[in-house]
Amino acid sequence: MCGIVGYVGERKAQDFLVSGLKRLEYRGYDSAGIATVSKDNKTTLIRAKGKIVNLEEKLAKNKRDDHIGIGHTRWATHGEPSETNAHPHQAGSIFLVHNGIIENYKDLKAELKGHEFKSETDTEVLAALVNSFYKDGKYPLINAVVQALKLVKGTYGIAVVSEKNPDELVVARSGSPLVIGVGNNETLIASDASALVGHTKKAIYLNDGEVALVTKNSIEIKTLNAEPVSAKVEEIETNLAAIQKGGYDHFLLKEIMEQPDSLAETLRGRLNVKDGTVRLGGPGLSEAELRKIKHLIIVGCGTAYHAGLLAGYYIEKFTPEITIETVIASEYRYRDAYIPKDSVALIVSQSGETADTLACLREIKKQGTKTIGIVNVIGSTIAREVDGGTYVHVGPEISVASTKAFTSQVIAMVMFGLTIAQAKGVKSSTLAPYVKEIAKLPEEIRKTLDSTAEDVRKIAKDYAKYDHAIYLGRDTAYPAAMEGALKLKEVSYMDANAYAFGELKHGPLALVDDRFFEMALVPKGILFEKSISNVQEVLARGGHMIVVTNSEIDLEVENVVKITTSLEIFAPLLMNLISQLFAYYVTVAKGYNVDQPRNLAKSVTVE
Ligand code: AGP
Repeated sequence: MCGIVGYVGERKAQDFLVSGLKRLEYRGYDSAGIATVSKDNKTTLIRAKGKIVNLEEKLAKNKRDDHIGIGHTRWATHGEPSETNAHPHQAGSIFLVHNGIIENYKDLKAELKGHEFKSETDTEVLAALVNSFYKDGKYPLINAVVQALKLVKGTYGIAVVSEKNPDELVVARSGSPLVIGVGNNETLIASDASALVGHTKKAIYLNDGEVALVTKNSIEIKTLNAEPVSAKVEEIETNLAAIQKGGYDHFLLKEIMEQPDSLAETLRGRLNVKDGTVRLGGPGLSEAELRKIKHLIIVGCGTAYHAGLLAGYYIEKFTPEITIETVIASEYRYRDAYIPKDSVALIVSQSGETADTLACLREIKKQGTKTIGIVNVIGSTIAREVDGGTYVHVGPEISVASTKAFTSQVIAMVMFGLTIAQAKGVKSSTLAPYVKEIAKLPEEIRKTLDSTAEDVRKIAKDYAKYDHAIYLGRDTAYPAAMEGALKLKEVSYMDANAYAFGELKHGPLALVDDRFFEMALVPKGILFEKSISNVQEVLARGGHMIVVTNSEIDLEVENVVKITTSLEIFAPLLMNLISQLFAYYVTVAKGYNVDQPRNLAKSVTVE
């Protein structure tokens, strides 16, 4: 999604604006721009289509030591990727950058006769609207912004600067995150705290409906109704190393390889292996409330949805008389679904900003259902709007393809399920095997990655030539297969789809021919024999089969990736590591952009 940066202080604004936009590159974009204002009220507006390197080429000829400015990376929503549509947008002496969607921009545009529009964007309309209140000097900048935002329908995170006043910035948010970095004689703005790392550890997260007047040494926040808001300064958790590649060629490989440590962070302080119990403080549900739960709704998109599906399979195995429904957020938000009264909703989101998931959260809360966040980004919108939650603490996930977050989301939800089972009095002998395996999982992940990465790399390059792939699994290996297919699809652009093994005969088996290869996840002790006979069905039709298993198989398949592990319950999570590595190495073999796949963004903050 788009990225916003802003600066006012003693240093050269251009330096932070460019470095900050580079930190936000991972979010996906197709044009970029910055505007800075000099002390003698001259604005330098530089924009470029494509990557930030194009912007830097232009800046090299326009070096300014201005001390205030704003910047933006745009992921096109209204109007094609172009320099004209790139932000910042100008209207008179107003320069503005915007994340989100102004839904009533056409109506507003029709009222703004005095402005000659140059772009197709909703953002330029917003800039013109602010200027319509500002240009006659009737309203100071912040008041002009407030007057404009009161007329806006839709979502926004904005930063505004005026050529007339090179000492103040105005920022505001409704539905698209904005964070204010509190520096030493400087104030920094960003749509994601990772842009602030290395500049300050102190941050103020704006809430929806808030607007702030910012100078190099003051921050004044109020609501759109002019009620003052006391700023809550929080610690930015992320360290610089965490957002660099750490010696790996790509963030995707780094984040796959980080999973032993990132899962260990998820588990820290939450497992008691000795007595086989789990303790989660975040959800904030009492024993009595946990005991009463009869129905779980698990909400997410993409990988988060798959994590919910897999966690749901596990939870129903050890929790008595509980029904579990895992739903795709973009569908569920528009359904007239009835939520039984003894329900709890798990809201799963790595970024904590996904528009459809956030909308679901708000809809579900309206029905009075308790909402628990399973989120990674601290202070994100979803994390701040749920009733309780469990951060997965995997650190920044930069690559668009989600990997370490998936593993930790599954386990965090399983641990939540275990707390329900504990409260319901489920025998510890039933739960202990889960707790024991979870405790061993980080080390088993390390062993699996170390022992298979090279084999997977060798196999993967032989499959880069295919355009189609089928992923297969049963029971807990089926959601794992779905996640594996998504990984391959989103980074290698291969048409990869997952099917439950048992569904093959109901249609997908007709697909099997030389256009396809098949990836089968066949865990020991989880419907193993049935899966093997399904593998044979595919082989009998000439399938090009890769089998990933923690057991012995004596079938003539093209490739076997053998996982050696003592785990059985969570073997599908180890198999998913193979799918992650496979997707990575196929994409490297194809020479595609591994961390920023085409058409995709890290956080989908628009519908
Ligand atoms: C997964 O690799 C994709 N990047 C995408 O499906 C992602 O999982 C989805 O957009 C949900 O994102 P979230 O977890 O930040 O809400």
